[in-house]
This record gives sequence, structure tokens and C-alpha cells, in this order.
Amino acid sequence: MSKEVVLSGIRPTGFLHLGNYFGAMRNFVRMQSEFDCYFFVANWHSLTTHPDTQTLRQSVHRVIAENIACGLDPEQVALYVQSDVPEIAELYLYLNMLAYKGELEKTVTFKEKVRLQPDNVNAGLLTYPVLQAADILIHRAVKVPVGKDQEQNLEMARNFAERFNHRYGDVFPLPYGFNYGGELVKILGLDGEGKMSKSENQLSTLYLADDDETIRKKIARAKTDQGPATENSVKPPYIENLFTLLKLVSTPDTVSKFEEDYNMSQQGDCRIRYGDMKKQLAEDMIRFIAPIREKAADLQSNPELLSTIIKKGAEKARASAATTLTQVRKAIGTGN
Ligand code: TRP
Repeated sequence: MSKEVVLSGIRPTGFLHLGNYFGAMRNFVRMQSEFDCYFFVANWHSLTTHPDTQTLRQSVHRVIAENIACGLDPEQVALYVQSDVPEIAELYLYLNMLAYKGELEKTVTFKEKVRLQPDNVNAGLLTYPVLQAADILIHRAVKVPVGKDQEQNLEMARNFAERFNHRYGDVFPLPYGFNYGGELVKILGLDGEGKMSKSENQLSTLYLADDDETIRKKIARAKTDQGPATENSVKPPYIENLFTLLKLVSTPDTVSKFEEDYNMSQQGDCRIRYGDMKKQLAEDMIRFIAPIREKAADLQSNPELLSTIIKKGAEKARASAATTLTQVRKAIGTGN
């Protein structure tokens, strides 16, 4: 039996951070040996919100390099750039005839972007979910590892696939969100406000490209307080978040030491020393991030190797895309 197809995409609109790693990339790495995986950089999508393309190529290369540095094996998965696969654009065109203006206008992400960029409400923004559906359906993917914020886009992809199948005949299986059991780890910004972000909130986000000193500085200024007022207190979100990070990068012994200190603390007898905890967290974080950063930097300093990898990814993706597109054209009557 052939393996199920997994697909996910990342927009190259900033720097990858810890939230991306623990929310996405770590799972991709686990999936690569189990499934037939397609991971790509959604550079067409980024044009809907980032018309200035001066740093686009560099960002695309960085995302590819960082994905490999995180453990994705370009021999095992198809790691490619969206714009290298023109088949996606043709499927996008067909799907556009199955997508209605009313439903596109109602999507949460569209409304949000209209609010953020009222002077650039372009048609690409409106049809963003159609392009995303084309990304997924072009490989007939059934499992799409994405965060909760992408659920609506996935639902639309299913709708377009169903309409297509109904109108032209069965070509597409229906894609669903997928993550290994349980909740995804949620990582807040170091200020305890909102999530880490590729482009905003930069001082509160730990990037995979941050150098050691930057990591130390950011963690040192992470939000804390005077400590708990009673034993076994519930942790406020910004403290819980520091423990979450500690659990991800430190040894179990370190985690239990600080957990105990926290739980034994009370007003007038504060055992937990946030300063020490942050110092430990910073050093363990550096041990985690530095090898990824260095591997990604090595790759980026070898543009020939990177471009060989990207070409190979495109070949794999185009082979699969062409097979689907042949069926699509045949079903519609646009093929010969
Ligand atoms: N919209 C996704 C995001 O903002 C990126 C994306 C584009 C994507 N095409 C996709 C994700 C296809 C999964 C599948 O994160």
C-alpha cells in the first residue's frame, strides 16, 4: 500500500522561531519517515501581503535551510518552493471557478487582512484560500499538519475538492488537519503576551537564527514577578511559559528542581529564583538553538548546494503535480 500524502507550507514572511519549531517543524521531522511528505515555501502567498520582494529570495533560501537544519531530510521528503511548481497555478485557476466571492469575503483571515492593509485589498488576498487549496490538492494530500488558525482554510479546501469531484468526477481525496495526538505545544512570547511571531514582537520571540548573546538578553528580560504568594500556586501565563520552555530544552532534573522551588514558595519565603531559572534556561536554549543556527548558516553560505536541493525538491513536486493535473484536465475536458 502506498503511504498517505502529507503536505504543509510555510510563508517566507520573516524568521522562523521556537513556536514554528515546536508547533510545526518538529512534527514534520517525525512525519517524514512515516508518510509521503511534501513541504514547501509559500512564496506566492507572501505576495498577497508583502509586495516588496527585495528580500524574498533570501527569505525563501533561509526557510529551506532552517527546515533542513531542524532535521528535514531533502532526500526523504519533497522540500520545494511554490513558484517552482507552475502546475499549482493552473489548478488554482480551475478552482477559482468553484469558489464564490461571498464565501471568500467571509473568511476570518481575509477580513483580518482587510483591516490590516485597507489600501491593498487585492484579488490575491481574496483568493488566498483557493491557492492554498491548490497547494494541497495538487498532490492529493490527505493530511495537513497546521495550527488551529488554518482550520477554516482547510475546510474551504475540502469544499472546493468536493465541488470539483461532484462537477467533474472523483479526482481528489478530502484533506484534513493532522497532528500527533494531543494538543500542540503553545509557546507564548517572552512578555507573556500573544504568540511568538515571525515578524512582530521580535524582542519577545526566540528565533532559530538568534546568536547566543541575543538569546541570553531576550530571556533575561522575560516577564516575571515577585514570586507566588502561597505554596502550590497556579502559575500566571508568563511563568507557565518559562516552564514550558524549560521542559522543551532542559533536563528533567532541572525542570523538577525549579518546579519544587516554585511550589514551595510563598510570601516572605520565596524559594524560586527567577534570575537563576532564566540563566539556566538561556544556557539550555543556546545548546538547543546554536546547532540549528549554525547548520542553517552553513547551508546558506553554500548557495550551490542549496539550489541543487531546491531543484531536486521541485522535480519531485512537479512529478506528483503533473500526474494530478493530467487527471484534472481530463476530467474537465481541457486536456487532449
Ligand atoms: N496559509 C498558511 C499559513 O499562513 C501557509 C500555507 C500556504 C499552507 N499553503 C498551504 C499551509 C498549504 C498548509 C497547506 O500558515
